[in-house]
Amino acid sequence: MASSPAAGGAASPRGPRGRGLFGNLRDFNRDQLGFYDRCAREYGDVVPVRLGPRRGLLIYHPDAIEEVLVARNRDFTRSPGTLLLRRLLGDGLFVSDGDFWLRQRRLMQPAFHRQRVAAYGEIMAAHAERRAAGWHDGAVLDVHEEMIALTRAIVAKTLFDADVSDEARAVGDASQIVMQYFGERLGSLLQLLPRWVPTPANVRVRRAIRRLDTVVYRMIADRRRSPEDRGDLLSILLQAQDADDGSRMTDRQVRDEVMTLFLAGHETTAVALSWTWYLLAQHPEVDARLADTLRLALGGRPPAVTDLPALRYAEMVVTESMRLYPPAYGIARQATRPTEVAGHPIAAHDIVLMPTWVVHRDARWFDEPETFRPERWADAARHLPRFAYFPFGGGPRQCIGNTFATMEAVLILAAIAQRFRLTLVPGQRVVPVPYITLRPEPGIRMRLERR
Ligand code: HEM
Repeated sequence: MASSPAAGGAASPRGPRGRGLFGNLRDFNRDQLGFYDRCAREYGDVVPVRLGPRRGLLIYHPDAIEEVLVARNRDFTRSPGTLLLRRLLGDGLFVSDGDFWLRQRRLMQPAFHRQRVAAYGEIMAAHAERRAAGWHDGAVLDVHEEMIALTRAIVAKTLFDADVSDEARAVGDASQIVMQYFGERLGSLLQLLPRWVPTPANVRVRRAIRRLDTVVYRMIADRRRSPEDRGDLLSILLQAQDADDGSRMTDRQVRDEVMTLFLAGHETTAVALSWTWYLLAQHPEVDARLADTLRLALGGRPPAVTDLPALRYAEMVVTESMRLYPPAYGIARQATRPTEVAGHPIAAHDIVLMPTWVVHRDARWFDEPETFRPERWADAARHLPRFAYFPFGGGPRQCIGNTFATMEAVLILAAIAQRFRLTLVPGQRVVPVPYITLRPEPGIRMRLERR
């Protein structure tokens, strides 16, 4: 990557030439990750691009990213791509903004406090144990599918005290369809197609949303019938009252938050774990060290929240895996008013893109950036600029589930890795595809070996 200084560069930055009406959108669509890489390599830390009718700025320097997400966060709102999700997530936390967002965020925060999350740890470890107990030595499975099913069951149980196992297939298929649909449209010309056009994809996604709605509304109705406080997020949402007028959330508002947490809360962690298994299989020395540390810390018993301090190496493995394959591979914002970043003027409605995928592999911050080396996290964090590593974003819109996700990933990794070694079935090509999350396509086929 070019090493031009980030801040203070008042000279007009250069970027790739755009063509016709679409500007750089075609190159962006064809290979989004490659486009981000090329722009950084050829033009430096701040790169102007044109995405159809909109002007955009790619920024790669941690200080400039911090400026957008923290210092100037009030000058920006959600990007048009994120707002596409409104059709699915309504006014849920991920897409809402302003006072409404702030009220909801404050309301939901208690469900994610460290102590509360610690109570979820038991459920996480138990689900991982149960899943691994059904696995057999020598079996071949798609590890991404397995991780999705596992994290989905965990988010349903921890946040909504719901068991989705009866309808797991239906919920699974429906969430797969909606994630695929919206993933394909993020940053793509497809989003220009009106959604009322009854294309097969539009019909399919409408049905899938309806199916998910049925499950979520039933969960809400059940809970309204027996409204005792179960200490989970659903109880918090249903009991919360507005401080000014005492009003409660409507079913629709509760539905939007439930849908948001259900979808934001499982595919991301599943993707992080899938890439972790993939990397471990390619680095037997890391896998062996992980197995040793688990044997020492757990001695074969299931992991618990109290073991987390002793599972430091497992956490370093997850941290390093999210560096190379950040599930949220980039963060986008749209300016609401004229502002500036790293000394460069930004007009209202301009888009700012912060490609986590590239920043996490920048040789200025990470030695041998393409190498999977969990050991670098033993003390690396102390020397890094704050936004050289930001898998959970930052500033006021930082991921609300970051502690939840990290704990979940470490407990699942520990529970499974102490029983099994996972090796890659030879002859497959797995590529990171930037949908809503950075999915391994077409999945990862792995063979189980009992340790
Ligand atoms: C490894 C797993 C995860 C990763 C990498 C991840 C990543 C992110 C990132 C980067 C953002 C900020 C997006 C932006 O600024 O535009 C975000 C926001 C969010 N995440 Fe996560 N996330 C993960 C797990 C979770 C979990 C487990 C939950 C819930 C249980 C969750 C719920 C949310 C919500 C609701 C937001 C929106 C917060 C707001 O705008 O106030 N995430 N996540």
